[in-house]
Amino acid sequence: MKKIHSLADMETFAQQLAGHLEAGDVLLLDGDLGAGKTTFSQFLGRALGVTRTISSPTFNIIKSYKGSTLYFHHMDCYRLEDSEEDLGFDEYFNDEAVTVIEWSQFIADYLPETYLKITIKVISETERALQLEAQGAHFEKIKEALEHV
Ligand SMILES: Nc1ncnc2c1ncn2[C@@H]1O[C@H](COP(=O)(O)OP(=O)(O)OP(=O)(O)O)[C@@H](O)[C@H]1O
Ligand SMILES: [Mg+2]
Repeated sequence: MKKIHSLADMETFAQQLAGHLEAGDVLLLDGDLGAGKTTFSQFLGRALGVTRTISSPTFNIIKSYKGSTLYFHHMDCYRLEDSEEDLGFDEYFNDEAVTVIEWSQFIADYLPETYLKITIKVISETERALQLEAQGAHFEKIKEALEHV
């Protein structure tokens, strides 16, 4: 469990995480409506060198951006609830990119085997608690590093 005290703290966390990411990495973002999934994704994208405005992909489902060395794919699967639709997710996970998925539970069948899942819990207006779950050695290492800074 990692405690986030403010919006600025969330940005610092995103920057620290970005420093550990490699091509092909996938992050799952869980948490209630308004928990901060899109806000975190915007901080992460900026930390990866995206200069274009990162807006919520709720309507488009997938938006892709160019970062300084990697592409940044930002997905929001909220609208895919119950649809079982495969939009070709695999191709996004395998190219030279980092992918962040809001509401990943709605594409459970299409998720990769390794990922870092971040569950955001609202504590107060600006405080959040982050629960990290790693699948795979690479993400276990990242989780350890993030929990001990
Ligand atoms: N520490 C914090 N971390 C993240 N967001 C915060 C924090 N403190 C305040 N906020 C505010 O909480 C709101 C989070 O909204 P955001 O759209 O990011 O949530 P979301 O989880 O993507 O929601 P949705 O499920 O609708 O996509 C924003 O207005 C943001 O400014
Ligand atoms: Mg969102």
